[in-house]
Parts: sequence; C-alpha cells; structure tokens
Amino acid sequence: MNAMRLQRKILAWYSAHKRDLPWRKTIDPYKILISEVMLQQTQVDRVIPYYDRFLKKYPSVYALSKARNRTLLKLWSGLGYNSRALRLKTLAKIIVKRHNGKFPRIAEELTALPGIGPYTAHAIMAFAHDKEVPVLDTNIRRVLIHELGLPHTTSTMALMKIAQAMIPKGKSRTWHNALMDYGALQTTARSTGVKSLSKQKQFLGSDRWLRGQILKEVLKKRRVTVSELHATIDHPRTQIVLGILLREGIIRKKGRFLFIA
Ligand code: ADE
Repeated sequence: MNAMRLQRKILAWYSAHKRDLPWRKTIDPYKILISEVMLQQTQVDRVIPYYDRFLKKYPSVYALSKARNRTLLKLWSGLGYNSRALRLKTLAKIIVKRHNGKFPRIAEELTALPGIGPYTAHAIMAFAHDKEVPVLDTNIRRVLIHELGLPHTTSTMALMKIAQAMIPKGKSRTWHNALMDYGALQTTARSTGVKSLSKQKQFLGSDRWLRGQILKEVLKKRRVTVSELHATIDHPRTQIVLGILLREGIIRKKGRFLFIA
C-alpha cells in the first residue's frame, strides 16, 4: 500500500477505535514524559494505575524535584528499571534550576537532559506541542514496515524519512496516537512477523528482575541485613546486583544493615 492510502486508512480506523488513555487528556510535557518513560518498559494497561498514582503524588516537575527517594521508588516498584525513576527526579531538578521549571521546546535541548533520548524527545514534541516530528517506536516501525511492504532490514534513518513525510499537516498529535493504537491493536509482532529491534530479554530471573526484588525487600523491612537478604532472595547473582545498587548509591549500607539512600 502507498503512504497516502495508508494514512487515510489509519485515520479512518482511528476515528472508530481510538483508545481513551490518561496521557491523552493532557498536553503538559511533564506528564507526557512520565507516561513515555513508563511506557518504554511496560504495557499500556499496566502503566495506567502507575501513571495516575505517580502524578497524584508528583503533579508537577517541582513536586518531583523534591521527591523523597524512598517514596519515589515505592511508587515505581513493579514497573522495573528503578534507576529511571531516580533519573526522572534528577531531570526534574535540572528543569527547575536551569530552565525555570519549563520544559525546553526544542528536541536538541530535550535530548541534552538525562534519560531523554531521541525517541522520547520526539514523543514530547508531538504529543505536547503537536510538532511535525516522526515518533518511531517499535509499534510504529512495525506498522510502516508491514503496511508499506518495506524490507525488515530498512534502516531507522530511512524509516524516519518515510514517517516524517506521512505526518498530516497540523495533526501530528492525532496521527501519532492513531499510529500507536493501530500498531498495538491491529498489527501484532506475531501477525506481521516483524520483530522488534531489541527483542525483550527474558525478564524473570534477569538482573533487572533481581534488582526489583532486592529493592522491594529493602523497602519492605525498612532495614534489612545482608544475610537476611540472601536468605530471602536465593539467587546466584544477588551479591553482584546488590553491589551494583550500592555503587549506584541507591542502597546504602551501615554496619550489617541495608537501607534506601
Ligand atoms: N506507547 C508509547 N507511547 C504511547 C502513547 N502515547 N500511547 C500509547 N502507547 C504508547
């Protein structure tokens, strides 16, 4: 199918099937950012309650900049990649201090912030500011490759150019929401055979999983000893992953006790 026909097909499909998602009720770049970071690692249905709780506790970049790590990690617990939560707080502090509490409106300035890569920068530009920049996540990449009949090996650069040319004038936000819904609901990886670039690593038992388990234990007990931790989490890499958390300063050790920094 050619690009213009596909555009019409997806917009028509979307007008009948659009999902009502909480981050679509806002154009606040802060809230969009929180949703995008959460959605990078977790399915939409699971993100919704986390997103709502997070923004209730930290409704603004100011509130997040003053978050207590303990509270922040508790709200993030279950989403995985806990360091992302801490990085968001670092980012919030920078926005408050250096940007007067306002998010930059230029993609290059956004990517200069910790934890914001090109994808997230474009998502903020499109969803918060309706800017005509291509947002190319796994789902959208799959839609374009499958529907336009492109080789699975098409480079990201080439896909970005194609994606850019397809954005309807003045409708970037709607278009990207439509693409995301179409990708999520109409074209699964299985039905299209288009594999994601970074096939999701097996999560259970992975270091990321272990990280979450260790943090959960330390949060639960307030203070836990190293040997108690080993007794509860019997895993060959507990010592190593705990070492990483200590080095990162997320967990501290005083005597025999571990606690959240
Ligand atoms: N995945 C990443 N961003 C999304 C969004 N804004 N809506 C739905 N799914 C998404």
